[in-house]
Amino acid sequence: SSAVVVAIDGTSGSGKSSTSRGVAARLSLRYLDTGAMYRAMTWWMLEHAVDVHDASAVAARAHEPVIVSGTDPQAPTITLDGVDVSTEIRSDLVNANVSPVSAVPEVRARMLELQRATIQDALDGPGIVVEGRDIGSVVWPQAQVKLYVTADPAARAARRALEEGGSDAARVQASLEARDRIDASRTTSPLVQADGAVHLDTTPYTLEEVVDQVVALVEDAK
Ligand code: C5P
Repeated sequence: SSAVVVAIDGTSGSGKSSTSRGVAARLSLRYLDTGAMYRAMTWWMLEHAVDVHDASAVAARAHEPVIVSGTDPQAPTITLDGVDVSTEIRSDLVNANVSPVSAVPEVRARMLELQRATIQDALDGPGIVVEGRDIGSVVWPQAQVKLYVTADPAARAARRALEEGGSDAARVQASLEARDRIDASRTTSPLVQADGAVHLDTTPYTLEEVVDQVVALVEDAK
């Protein structure tokens, strides 16, 4: 098929999500936010009083939550056991607990299966933009376009604080950097620049400029 898979990995708050959605909308591709899936898994663990720092406790229950991702870039949704949790998964509580949950191999194995099935489905259409930490390295290494997106930590904290309606930028920066540290140092599928990935530092660019650059890369790859 001529379907394209665009893998967009990178650090927390680098602008991956806005970029991924913008590119998918522009090119009429589907969109999968794999971070939202790990967030939903984390929300479930917290709601069920599972100690997120006890990897075997998390592993024992990782098969239970039913997580379904919508793939419309204009209105991405995520349901957990049939309930829309799009708002809950963006809470500080989830921000603070998602990285330890995501480091558990059983969690990753389960998410990998769901993610590959969603990508496989999208190959019947024009394709899909998939964002996360390990898409180009593990989930879909054969993606035609791979990006590794980063941004200056202070710049990304300021942007995220603004998105969150005036949260304290220094606190946001500490939270983003703490997640990056855990995500990059875990044993299973750490955050890395995948083989063949183009590094894009978004710090000096507007969202529109970044989307333009990625769209150009996708057009070239077709
Ligand atoms: O992308 P987002 O910041 O929403 O991701 C939340 C968390 O989910 C990350 O900090 C990371 O721990 C985890 N994640 C992951 N692998 C992915 C996507 C997200 O481990 N592919």
